[in-house]
Amino acid sequence: MKISVIGAGHVGATTALRISEKELSSEVVLVDIIEGMPQGKALDLWESAPVGYTDSRLIGTNKYDETAGSDVVVITAGLPRTPGMTRDDLRDKNTEIVKEVTKNVVENSPNCVIIMVSNPLDVMTYVAYKVSGFPTNRVFGMAGVLDTSRFRSFIAMELNVSVEDITSMVLGGHGDSMVPLPRYTSVSGIPLTQLMEKETIDRLVDRTRKGGTEIVNLLKTGSAYYAPASSAAQMVEAVVKDKKRILPGSVYVTGQYGLSDLYVGLPAKFGKSGVEEIIEIELTEDEKAALHKSADGVRNSVAKLKL
Ligand code: NAI
Ligand code: 2OP
Repeated sequence: MKISVIGAGHVGATTALRISEKELSSEVVLVDIIEGMPQGKALDLWESAPVGYTDSRLIGTNKYDETAGSDVVVITAGLPRTPGMTRDDLRDKNTEIVKEVTKNVVENSPNCVIIMVSNPLDVMTYVAYKVSGFPTNRVFGMAGVLDTSRFRSFIAMELNVSVEDITSMVLGGHGDSMVPLPRYTSVSGIPLTQLMEKETIDRLVDRTRKGGTEIVNLLKTGSAYYAPASSAAQMVEAVVKDKKRILPGSVYVTGQYGLSDLYVGLPAKFGKSGVEEIIEIELTEDEKAALHKSADGVRNSVAKLKL
């Protein structure tokens, strides 16, 4: 399996590091438009390999021919937000970047699976789908794994238990209206609702929804990248190892949950062909309404796209 990561900024370089640490491929190609930068970062990462015990080779480049024949391509190219910005404020500039990147990716790796990371996530995933001409199973976006990981980490801190024991699910668009699902959250099989007061759960749900903004306000110069990169690497792993993992991802809907012609965060099975199945779980009327409200936000943003 050959893996390429487009955009060698904070998220891209850290994703390449995580992929190489997990030895998901013998070669990871890191591409950016800034001359020398992907080369420098890839060399620095590769020089850490003897100490970090990975034989996954990192190659930095400004040219797409070195990505040729990639099986999986992660797109992280684009502007991150800074304090005061919403993810949607990035739409027009990042659309231009994602369009150009996707064309280059498709030309060099016509059979790859594309994993979108650039924001606004669900909208950029739609752009890559339209521009690539790929079937919908081979284009999906990463956000739900990150949002769920944030929710899980907050629950672990609150209960003072291992993060390993917490499973959860955050659905919807990757924005402030995302839909964490406490009813589908458990700690070693014990429903969260038996372990926490409703007020505490509501507080953690709210913190999860604003999780990206919390980091932006602390960093001031950009957005989160360690947790996003680990989350992207987990999705890469699901594909290259054909793990059939059930994860929340931004997937193309064709009627599931009453939604269609849209990318939005839902539980799906991920394996070597990308999105192998969208899982329809039972939702209460309130949960369904929240999911539709979130999907409406994505649809409104898609409607403003200049493709
Ligand atoms: P960054 O600014 O550190 O890196 C972005 C990189 O993209 C830069 O190195 C830039 O030179 C490169 N780039 C710009 N145009 C390009 C082009 N045409 N071709 C190749 N490379 C190009 O930003 P960071 O922090 O890495 O974030 C990247 C994107 O990921 C942002 O849009 C951010 O909002 C998004 N993001 C999404 C998350 C998610 O959960 N889906 C989580 C974290 C970030
Ligand atoms: C986040 O949630 C920036 O979307 C990114 O941290």
